[in-house]
Amino acid sequence: MSDTPILVTCGLPYTNGPCHLGHLRTYVPADFYVRYLRHCGREVVFVCGSDNHGTPIVISAETEGVTPRQMSERYNAHFDETFKKMGIFFDRFGMTDDPMNHETTTEIVTKLIENGHIYKKTISQSYCPHCEMFLPDRYVEGTCPYCGEKARGDECDQGCGKHLEPGELKDPVCKICGSPAEFRDQEHYFLKLGDFKDFLNGYLPTIQGTSNAKNYASMWVKEGLHDWCVTRSFNWGVKFPGHDDLVVYVWVDAPIGYISFTKEWAKATGGDWEQFWKPEGKGEVIHFIGQDIIYHHCVFWPSLLEGAGYKPPKAVVASGMVKIDDKKFSKSRGCVVWTNEDYLDIGLSPDYLRYYLLSYTSHTKELNFSWKEYQARVNNEFVDTIGNFFYRTLHFAANKMGGIPDLDAEPQVLEAIKSTIAQLDKAVGEYEFKAAVEAVLALGNTANTYIQTNAPWKLMKTDENAARQTIRNCLQFVKALTILLDGIMPVKAQEAWELLGYKGKVADCRLSEALTGFDHSELPTPKILFAKIEDEKVAEYENTLKMRLEEAKAKEAGSAAANAAGSAPAQTASDKPKTENKGDKKMEDNNEPVEQISIDEFFRTQLKVGKILEVEPVPKSKKLLKIMVDLGEESPRQIVSGIAPYYRPEELVGLSVVVVANLKPAKLCGVESNGMILAAGDEASLLTTKFEVAPGTKVL
Ligand code: 2FM
Ligand code: ZN
Repeated sequence: MSDTPILVTCGLPYTNGPCHLGHLRTYVPADFYVRYLRHCGREVVFVCGSDNHGTPIVISAETEGVTPRQMSERYNAHFDETFKKMGIFFDRFGMTDDPMNHETTTEIVTKLIENGHIYKKTISQSYCPHCEMFLPDRYVEGTCPYCGEKARGDECDQGCGKHLEPGELKDPVCKICGSPAEFRDQEHYFLKLGDFKDFLNGYLPTIQGTSNAKNYASMWVKEGLHDWCVTRSFNWGVKFPGHDDLVVYVWVDAPIGYISFTKEWAKATGGDWEQFWKPEGKGEVIHFIGQDIIYHHCVFWPSLLEGAGYKPPKAVVASGMVKIDDKKFSKSRGCVVWTNEDYLDIGLSPDYLRYYLLSYTSHTKELNFSWKEYQARVNNEFVDTIGNFFYRTLHFAANKMGGIPDLDAEPQVLEAIKSTIAQLDKAVGEYEFKAAVEAVLALGNTANTYIQTNAPWKLMKTDENAARQTIRNCLQFVKALTILLDGIMPVKAQEAWELLGYKGKVADCRLSEALTGFDHSELPTPKILFAKIEDEKVAEYENTLKMRLEEAKAKEAGSAAANAAGSAPAQTASDKPKTENKGDKKMEDNNEPVEQISIDEFFRTQLKVGKILEVEPVPKSKKLLKIMVDLGEESPRQIVSGIAPYYRPEELVGLSVVVVANLKPAKLCGVESNGMILAAGDEASLLTTKFEVAPGTKVL
């Protein structure tokens, strides 16, 4: 076994809102991973902290009438507590606004300047003459120069998704007072990303973790690297060396937080932080992040580290996005499940949520949360098998046999456990947490079938020795499953550990103990560990979500109606316009009289069934995919479709879709498109056929 020390980090949550399922999608698997490595005897340090700088935090703080620091401290404490309640214990949970991070950021930025990677340039920046301030990032809104959609200062969030550099946004409007912004010249500092092209081309092929991270990053480097403005005219953040009126861009000091939190851990424990971050150190760093921040972690961050003489991460593990009831996760539209308010505070088990998040799908795929699915998985997959087996075994051993029979487990039981550990090891090594949980469940099923088939309660009457051996085997299964469950359900695993008569922490146990016997025979009074989730409760939870969605819709419609009636929406610093616009559009759509057409006119549109053969992203676009479709013609059709935000290319291949086959060719982002694939709704749900139909079949 490798003795390389590992530093595991999780993407840092912004301190402007509470914890939700989207956050947990990254943190729970990271915690599972850390627990697993520790069970294997590996030396692991697990750090995280909150991301306190940047405009969203200042805007939220202004709205609430508190300082950004106060706001950050409040949410920092909130995240720290919530993670603990979810069984996630970091060795250090810091703040990017703490002195250590100011100091480390200053040191790294100074090194980058000394090494010639940062240069000064005068750029034209949005400035509000009314508020008398420059408008960084989210302080300004306008039109995306690439796709023409409404966008904010640093990102085209409603259109093509591109990162926007200061000054790039067209028709900028101040987010605070609503006045049109002017452009004024200002000196800023840029990182020469191009300096790192060769380094990235050598480094990215070696990066470990999930393939989405490596593949996306390599594609972006191939597309070309643009210099990155690393300063903002702002007074909240880490000061850019030598300038009182500039701070570094939040995406500089946020990842540096990973180093600072490691230093803080080292300071508190006497540990060695340099082993993870200095090129000569033998430790390795693994970042767990959401897939939306792959660019920052696989292109920008390694370049910063390389340029300042630090070591880049060994692996980046990027989780897929979260949907709720098939709808896009959106706080403003009420499509959200809050970790505390909707889950922990109503007494639901953190373990069940961990189990659901880990086992729902592969780590890189989209996770669709629904209360019904949650209930079904917990009740049917878990409580009915492992829950049932644990209770039967512990109850029978304690009440009918007076404790643990003084016998060894039989070889076939130990073999089954060994094989599960091997499967688990492979799955964790591949960051396939779903497969890891399935291996544990499969062992639970084997054990459950074993007790059912051997029925010790019957054997007891005919062959007491055989009954004792059966229960001893079952207790070995319980012991192994309890150790293997620690990463999935740490609270339940600890309770089960104590029901097996152990006093210590199951989290401190080695995996090898799953195969060793017991050195005690007493068992405490057994109890039911795993309860089912009742139907009425699920109906309640679903109702809460429904009400929230309706409330958000009503709010949206209300503000749209106010706009339509000509009353100017109140201009505050809150994040509102995004939904108001969508509302406007919907109202118009709903109220417009629909023009009727004849059947002949309808038949002018040729709809055909097509089979998707190949899919690849369109370079420089986050929205478009280039799709080759078999329409039963001589050669496949090339169609460009704006569905990239909703599907991964590989999940589309083989799907039958409905295509408008006689559409005039058009060019999208310079790529020719010969047709249109039909999809419905905000989430681009693709139209498909109920039965297998030959490509080219007409849709009538
Ligand atoms: O996207 C986000 O939520 C950021 N706060 C993540 C920062 S991770 C790191 F680089 F610090
Ligand atoms: Zn855009």
